[in-house]
Amino acid sequence: MTSDLDAYLETTSDRRLASYLEFLRIPSISAQPEYAGACRQAAEWVAGQLHGMGVENVEVGETGGHPIVYGDWLHAADAPTVIVYGHYDVQPVDPIELWETAPFEPFVKGDRVIGRGSADDKGQIHIHLRATEAILATRGSLPVNLKFVFEGEEESSSVHLDAWLEANRERLSADLAVISDSGFFDGNLPAITVGLRGICYIQVDVVGTAVDLHSGQFGGAVQNPANALAQIIAALKGPDGRIRVPGFYDDVVALTDADRAAFAELPFDEERYRTDLGLPALVGEAGYTTLERRGGRPTLDVNGLWAGFQGEGAKTIIPAHAHAKISCRLVTAQDPNTIFELLRAYIMEVAPPGCVVDVRSLGGGRPSLTPTDHPATQAAARALEATFGTAPVFIREGGSIPVCASFETILGLPVVLLGFTPPDDNAHAPNESMSLPNHETAIRTVATYWDELAALPR
Ligand code: BES
Ligand code: MN
Ligand code: MN
Repeated sequence: MTSDLDAYLETTSDRRLASYLEFLRIPSISAQPEYAGACRQAAEWVAGQLHGMGVENVEVGETGGHPIVYGDWLHAADAPTVIVYGHYDVQPVDPIELWETAPFEPFVKGDRVIGRGSADDKGQIHIHLRATEAILATRGSLPVNLKFVFEGEEESSSVHLDAWLEANRERLSADLAVISDSGFFDGNLPAITVGLRGICYIQVDVVGTAVDLHSGQFGGAVQNPANALAQIIAALKGPDGRIRVPGFYDDVVALTDADRAAFAELPFDEERYRTDLGLPALVGEAGYTTLERRGGRPTLDVNGLWAGFQGEGAKTIIPAHAHAKISCRLVTAQDPNTIFELLRAYIMEVAPPGCVVDVRSLGGGRPSLTPTDHPATQAAARALEATFGTAPVFIREGGSIPVCASFETILGLPVVLLGFTPPDDNAHAPNESMSLPNHETAIRTVATYWDELAALPR
């Protein structure tokens, strides 16, 4: 027997796909100032959708950066109140030449929607919008109270979010926060993320002379900023994969036997993971498995590196300056500010003489571990199993969602990370995509989840 919700979703699928694609056409890249107008347009679009389906107190809230969209529906007496979080901003699109079509001209290919934001995270906001609309359209009310918080700076370290949460603490009182910004496991197995890494992102600038020098005339007599930067980077990590910054591991909570057993139990095909990546070998910190390295241990990686002549042929210079963007993924209970200070002090210490080195922060976010056994997490697991037909696995992710720790510490809320994207979604990469079957089923998952939450003993 099909339910009213199923019938509604069936008859509205064309309209739903059209609104999904319309949302994806707005180039809301938070990192690049020239897209600030598009970010606002995306916020207005989301606000318009919420308003149109009967969500109240809808507002495009100013933050000093890209706006935060708020809206609520609070008519479920004696039912829990849930904050629903997603981000409407997306990553930059470079390298543009590797996209099959323009990143903001989304299209359907097979059972996937391809376009920037299709998975991370506009697709997941869209799931919540359409789920709310479908429940209100078929039942006239929601089983729980919802407070929507859709931000526009997640891909830029959520710089203005904490202040907004502090300022709106009372309005945001709730029983639980649900973040839909994560994905399924290896092979598209339903998953609930129970761990996220934090991040500390820095830029290192090494400056020598005002302009490039002739490398014959001056080579040997002066410091080369590119060589100096290479020396600094080489000092950061040992061949065993251990980060050499003194104090870096001091606050790392070691993996317990139970943690390690949980990683080991996941159905993970390491060999396929390697071949899918097209790599000759997987590498990482000695003494840990691939999943542990990715989800349970901190890292240090160069994200970008530039200096000197990069054109064709040989140009004999000593570059005037050299630069690196470096990020550390952090685990409980590392603090991004502390790690920044440790990194800076160590880089200054190992920097060779004869050049000027500057280390600055490009943002940070705290790690988080969310409880597996919380009734709200278990209810989410039941909703996933009821709709996707398979019980979810609980995973610790390598990525970061800074707001998770903020919901816990600023608002004092338990958090459930309920995300729906397939693991091969090319998030942050060319040809980002989202499985349409996942998108469609997830709408039912959300509806089922609200019913499960409403049925929990209070
Ligand atoms: N949705 C991702 C985080 C994520 C990735 C969760 C993979 C689960 C699995 C989020 O949009 C993201 O990309 N976060 C950034 C945070 C950074 C900009 C502070 C990240 O992890 O690089
Ligand atoms: Mn995201
Ligand atoms: Mn992202």
